[in-house]
Amino acid sequence: MNNTPYIASTSLAGPDFLLTDHDFSRIRTLIHQRAGIALGAQKRQMVYSRLARRLRELQMREFSAYLGFLEADPGSDEWELFTNALTTNLTSFFREAHHFPVLAEHVRSCAQPVSVWCSAASTGEEPYSIAMTLVEALGSRAGSASVVATDIDTQVLAKATAGVFTLEQVSKLSPARLKRFFLKGSGAHAGKVRVRPELAAMVKFSQLNLLAPRWALKEPFDAIFCRNVMIYFDKPTQHQILQRFVPLMKPHGLLFAGHSENFSFASQTLRLRGQTVYELVAATTKGPA
Ligand SMILES: C[S@@+](CC[C@H](N)C(=O)[O-])C[C@H]1O[C@@H](n2cnc3c(N)ncnc32)[C@H](O)[C@@H]1O
Repeated sequence: MNNTPYIASTSLAGPDFLLTDHDFSRIRTLIHQRAGIALGAQKRQMVYSRLARRLRELQMREFSAYLGFLEADPGSDEWELFTNALTTNLTSFFREAHHFPVLAEHVRSCAQPVSVWCSAASTGEEPYSIAMTLVEALGSRAGSASVVATDIDTQVLAKATAGVFTLEQVSKLSPARLKRFFLKGSGAHAGKVRVRPELAAMVKFSQLNLLAPRWALKEPFDAIFCRNVMIYFDKPTQHQILQRFVPLMKPHGLLFAGHSENFSFASQTLRLRGQTVYELVAATTKGPA
């Protein structure tokens, strides 16, 4: 690899920062070790623009100085900001809508209380969509249902916890859902909605790195949502995470994957039940628990 300096402007008047091939390679290694995210060589411009904000804030001109600063202190708060900057958080309400009727039908047959883990919750649209589905499917029994919503990125979790969304973000929700589950902002909050407290109370947000050696989770879940995050991981990492999901699923629990994620390599433990929905192989071979 040659060590071509890479300099790009992020704004017309903005400063430039020096990113060498060696810096880029270090960044790829560090984010892979920390979050499992496998960044391709084509992500160089993305990495530059996302981390340039950190360099600007810290008044550094070279990525090598930033990386030196990071690596000098494994306990530095900057690691969190580094990780937050490199995650991709695209999400929306009822994304991959075909999953929600499957979830609704599933939870109607589950023993109470129903619990669902949303393992890459991003800014909250996915876990709140799950909670809305639980309320609609379970009616008065939804009071005991809960959604554990986790993500590695503390910044998106703060947004998710606030539960405030723009009208544009909720524009695809039906008027009935909007009325039932959201409060409309007025005055300084005009143009925004907030998740109603009853729905918010069902969802507990916390930080969890899917790569961490231990997850602070107790229950086995009726369903796990792990959508559009495995695509960032390499196959061995995906496999390890899937094996750790197995004991966290109730015998008839379901695992929901993203549209471009295929877990057929884990066919010894997980079997495809419908479009990107998996169940435990043990559940189908042993019959009802
Ligand atoms: C593209 S979003 C998907 C959000 C949502 N699941 C959906 O499908 O709409 C990917 C999310 O995975 C999170 N993520 C990335 N690496 C992670 C890790 N190692 N552990 C937990 N979450 C991670 C990111 O912070 C981001 O919010």
